[in-house]
Amino acid sequence: MLPGAAVVGWGTALPPVVVTNKDLEAYLDTSDEWITERTGIKERRIGGTVAELATQAGKMAIVNSGIVPSDIDLLVLATTTPDESVPATSAVVHSALGLSGAAFDINAACSGFVYGLTVARGAIATGCSRVLLIGADVLSRITDKMDRSTAVLFADGAGALILERREDSDNFLGWDIGIDGSLHDLLYAELGGYIKMQGRDVFRKAVQAMVGSARSALERASLTTDDISLVVPHQANLRIIEAAAARLNIPMERVAVSIDHNGNTSSASIPLALVDAIDAGRIADGDIILLTGFGAGMTWASAVIRWGR
Ligand code: COA
Repeated sequence: MLPGAAVVGWGTALPPVVVTNKDLEAYLDTSDEWITERTGIKERRIGGTVAELATQAGKMAIVNSGIVPSDIDLLVLATTTPDESVPATSAVVHSALGLSGAAFDINAACSGFVYGLTVARGAIATGCSRVLLIGADVLSRITDKMDRSTAVLFADGAGALILERREDSDNFLGWDIGIDGSLHDLLYAELGGYIKMQGRDVFRKAVQAMVGSARSALERASLTTDDISLVVPHQANLRIIEAAAARLNIPMERVAVSIDHNGNTSSASIPLALVDAIDAGRIADGDIILLTGFGAGMTWASAVIRWGR
């Protein structure tokens, strides 16, 4: 049997500047009421670089795990807004954290963190002892702050997990990743440009993608939605989350929501919502957690995890 993995630590980082819906009202033709009703967002954090936020989240995860940087064999940084074209932002984070071992970036847009989880899990199966996975994005960098259709949604942040090798057990029960590249035009930013998005189409496809992906991951884990203690979905729009949960027959009491205070932080959104749920005491050892998301591409990704170190 191949070795398995468990999550042994976590960390997050958010920039200090809070931008409320009221702040946006000051310079955009929008309202707190519209944003709250259509998206569920009340405020978001803006600022920093991917390397700064990722380093902060990674440092917290290392401390939380009770390990030292040299215990980590691989850093996987999921980001869709790298600080530079070359080198990968993970190079800067690797140095700032004092890591040894390897590091690289992956970009699967807002599905990046769960894509990264499958990469990290695979690296453990093929020899790594510990992998630091970080999802970090500074979407404000590619968002036109004067475009009300995107500026109210996107924000900045980072979240990190540490996966550790287990010889006789595996807490990664099933996963699914995929892409339909023909939907590329629904959400894109040209090099040096701002995000362009067909909001309604993204909404519709997002619900289908998350539901289909979640079902595939559950099937591979030989589990049903009844086995799931908590769903941690990508935080793009509260209405997308509610529609997907309804189709999966999972009540909102079993869904993690942090979009109200984080907005859409892309690769960081799932770990930020997960750590909020941990901090709120909503996750106990042995619980089965479903992470599920979608993003530009259009990508989708889901993972079923048994919680516990
Ligand atoms: N404030 C006020 N009005 C706004 C607005 C804003 N920030 N943004 C758009 N509007 C207007 C539109 O111009 C439109 O006006 P019109 O009817 O006069 O043409 C009206 O509100 C309705 O727009 P529509 O796009 O149909 O709204 P919606 O209910 O679909 O909500 C989104 C818009 C973007 C919130 C929603 O489509 C969405 O969340 N889509 C998915 C986006 C996403 O998840 N992206 C990230 C993927 S990882």
